Amino acid sequence: MCTFVFSKTNNYLHLLSMKISLAILATIFIISFFFQQYKIHSLHKELDKLEMIQAKQMEINQPFIRLEKEHYELAITMARMQNYTQKLYFAGQNENWKLAQFYTHELEEAMEDIIDHKVTDEGKDISSLVKKMAFPKIKKIENAITAQNEVDFVEGYQLLLRACNNCHVASNHEFIKIITPKNEAFINQDFKK
Ligand code: HEC
Repeated sequence: MCTFVFSKTNNYLHLLSMKISLAILATIFIISFFFQQYKIHSLHKELDKLEMIQAKQMEINQPFIRLEKEHYELAITMARMQNYTQKLYFAGQNENWKLAQFYTHELEEAMEDIIDHKVTDEGKDISSLVKKMAFPKIKKIENAITAQNEVDFVEGYQLLLRACNNCHVASNHEFIKIITPKNEAFINQDFKK
């Protein structure tokens, strides 16, 4: 009888301790679950904040990006054209037609670059002016090169320079005057065939 009571109490204690352990485990599980949820929630908040900062930064940078797109350094392309017209002249003088062809092509590309960029300056439509005044002059030079005709080449060349200068007048830059180069001695390039 005594043993029976003792074993019953023992069983009851055992069950109780199991219940307590289960309750503890469940509590730990619930706490860690809510803790994870809280962490996820605060990470989401952090992400939202970062996205807001990024959006603000893009907003701030926007005018600069737009400015970069709109701004075209016309003077740099003009300087390129000056360089090519100079070299083109010496190539023609030396009847180095392959080299002359090369610079004519480069000039054409520089003008196309200005035309494509739809450049305006002080209210003047620079791209249209280049297209109408200077670009067509290239054709005559190209024909002279194909025919290897020195006289036609010089004539075409003079017409091109006149177009450059006429356009400088038309675009309020009459003080930029392009002339036939005088001698090639100072250029660090050999123009002979
Ligand atoms: C739209 C007509 C137009 C045509 C055609 C044109 N220019 Fe210009 N050029 C300008 C304008 C406008 C400027 C001033 C650019 C600026 O203000 O940044 C300029 C500036 C220049 C400059 C000053 C930049 C420097 O580095 O000194 C040179 C040189 C020049 N042009 C050469 C030429 C040559 C060579 C040609 C012909 C092959 C030519 N241009 C054809 C309008 C023209």
